[in-house]
Amino acid sequence: MAAEEGAAPAADPHALAELAERTAAEAGRAAAEGQEGIGVLDTKSTPTDVVTEMDRRVEELIRKRLLQARPGDAVLGEEGGEEAGADGGVRWIVDPIDGTVNYLYGREEWAVSIAAESGGRIVAGAVVAPRLGDTYTAVLGAGAFCNGAPLRAGPAPEPAFALVATGFGYDPQRRAHQAEVLRSVLPRVRDIRRGGSAAIDICSLARGRADAYYERGLNPWDWAAACLVAREAGLRVEGLHGAPPSGELTIAAGPGLFESLHAMLEPLGADTDGPA
Ligand code: IPD
Ligand code: CA
Ligand code: CA
Repeated sequence: MAAEEGAAPAADPHALAELAERTAAEAGRAAAEGQEGIGVLDTKSTPTDVVTEMDRRVEELIRKRLLQARPGDAVLGEEGGEEAGADGGVRWIVDPIDGTVNYLYGREEWAVSIAAESGGRIVAGAVVAPRLGDTYTAVLGAGAFCNGAPLRAGPAPEPAFALVATGFGYDPQRRAHQAEVLRSVLPRVRDIRRGGSAAIDICSLARGRADAYYERGLNPWDWAAACLVAREAGLRVEGLHGAPPSGELTIAAGPGLFESLHAMLEPLGADTDGPA
């Protein structure tokens, strides 16, 4: 039967994942080529929340490629905001460079993150870290992969032996409270890592490069694709009390450790900016 005129093209999650991966790979190459000598173009929420020319150029490239392939789709991007779609099919959630501060300092830990949301769920995603040589992909219900190899998280350790990744917001008041939370967490775990890219931090759990992750203040573009990668590898990625991951708090870990970390963070007010 012929498709109805004006209807959204069928959203096969595997095809969406391929488009996400192909687009993130091209964007990653462009960003890597533009990294040397890059400077600050503008600031956003605070003077240390920077944007480079490449953040904007790379997002423009991603939007162009996604909409060339699927003209009716919506796009939410960190730099360009929300662009409505024509047919309500798929919404792409894009972070052109996750880890901009690392990017600015010539470091390698940054990634392009592209997720496809359909029917209110993330159904496909890709996180490409070109200078690390890592490409993470996932399709809802069909697994997660790193550089083509299937990802399956191993058993989670006790909190005392857990390597815990985290991140900090750009707002000084939020950071002051995040430091307080960290002060309580640090003596109770193996150690802490602050990689500088939430997307890479979360994907890294799926291959055992850390055991857990938490952060307050994330935006959907930071976690959308990585969350699917981690979940498809068998990890839990949630907020407090079963809420979806959000700016309030995002916790990621394997079963068992997730609950322990949740129990540690909740009484510390990790989902707040501290006493009012
Ligand atoms: C940031 C990174 C960082 C996290 C911040 C994010 P950006 O994203 O993911 O690791 O701690 O909360 O805002 O600004 O580099 O795209
Ligand atoms: Ca980000
Ligand atoms: Ca970014």
